[in-house]
Amino acid sequence: MHKRDFGSFHSSNVQELISIANERYLPPELPFKLRYDSTADSHSKTIQFGREFKDRYFLLEDTCTFLNHGAFGAVLRPALEDAQKWQVYTEKQPLRFYDRELLPHLVYVTRRLANFVDCDPCDIVLVSNATTGINAVLKSLKFSSGDVIFTLSVTYGAVKKLLKQVCTETGAVVKEATVTFPLSGPDQLTKLVREELEPNVTKLAVFDHIPSNTPFILPLKEIIDICHEKNIPVLVDGAHALGSISLRLKNLKPDFYVSNAHKWFCGPKGAAFLYVDKTFQSVIRPVVISHGFGSGYNSEFIWTGLHDYSPFLALHTVLDFWQMLGVGVIQGYMHDLCRQAGGMLAKSWGTALAAPQDMFGSMSLVRLPSSLFDNDDLVNYSKAEEIQNKLYHNYNIEVPIKCIENKLYVRISCHVYNSLGEYKKLADAVSEMCT
Ligand SMILES: Cc1ncc(COP(=O)(O)O)c(C=O)c1O
Repeated sequence: MHKRDFGSFHSSNVQELISIANERYLPPELPFKLRYDSTADSHSKTIQFGREFKDRYFLLEDTCTFLNHGAFGAVLRPALEDAQKWQVYTEKQPLRFYDRELLPHLVYVTRRLANFVDCDPCDIVLVSNATTGINAVLKSLKFSSGDVIFTLSVTYGAVKKLLKQVCTETGAVVKEATVTFPLSGPDQLTKLVREELEPNVTKLAVFDHIPSNTPFILPLKEIIDICHEKNIPVLVDGAHALGSISLRLKNLKPDFYVSNAHKWFCGPKGAAFLYVDKTFQSVIRPVVISHGFGSGYNSEFIWTGLHDYSPFLALHTVLDFWQMLGVGVIQGYMHDLCRQAGGMLAKSWGTALAAPQDMFGSMSLVRLPSSLFDNDDLVNYSKAEEIQNKLYHNYNIEVPIKCIENKLYVRISCHVYNSLGEYKKLADAVSEMCT
């Protein structure tokens, strides 16, 4: 493909460049060879997922049994190395980089990411994290007294706080429908939404695609369709989705969708995307207003003041990596491991999962054995924390314990660097703690 010299490039040119059809688009010349650019690392295809993969592609310490990818992700070593190369390149001639080169590079990587999640490049923008994207949407929409924002009890805690604040400022109210556990299946959720959603007064519905504490996969397509039948726009917090499950936005048709690239996609920290359906692009404003203001949705978001844009640019390397190994191969491994590990833990403790196995993807939630507590133990968040700390301090196992409806569960994460033996270690540690 031909490359193009952009000369001096301004945020007002962004709109034009992002909307060029693929056949006519000429990407900018990359300033250095990326880790996987053109010559794929053929060796990686022969490497087994699990321990060998962890040593080669992640920076995680091998002494720790790391089963908590869901918390803050873990970066791919080559992506972090390339992010550092972008930083060094920036500082060699800061004016050239920020004034002439940065925006075309950001457009290029945004176009590639849009292709990965199957949406029009004009509909997504890069943001630093899911929280920023969700704030942009909720602070831009206009609510007034009596309006209802619908959500579920499993919604992420920080987003619940934001909803509360938006309501305090506007007089709107949150209606929270309670999800009870164990889940019987996806129908329990579609039924709940269908029954609890109040048309006319509800101005927005907010859902976690994969809730953090209870990581089942929401039957999102069905739920979006139910909301749209009632003319209610949907904001999806997909913080855990990119990388962990197949994400096809054209098929899902949300109004707003946010996902992190620094979690399951394994990009450097500080990269996420916000998708906004065309109907709403003229009203959604970035949290930070800067030079692109007034020049269109993509222009407004692309520059949020001078900062380190390397986590965005390193997405090239992450995308190359996923494409080189095959998205289906990676997700197939994670989902199989999760199925095996969840089943094995429940069997060895004589307990059960918090939802049917096929509602989980790369994370699962397994009930802890009741013999872990004394009869007079209060089962609450501090008990969960105590067990989590014991696993960390006594066994060097990093895994979160969740308290749900007064029962304790372990949330396991399964990524390409994990292997079944690590969950066996967890099974044995918990069994030993029970004795
Ligand atoms: C469901 C959900 N939403 C939002 C977030 C916030 O992500 P970030 O801190 O990257 O903005 C998280 C983080 O774990 C999450 O699990």
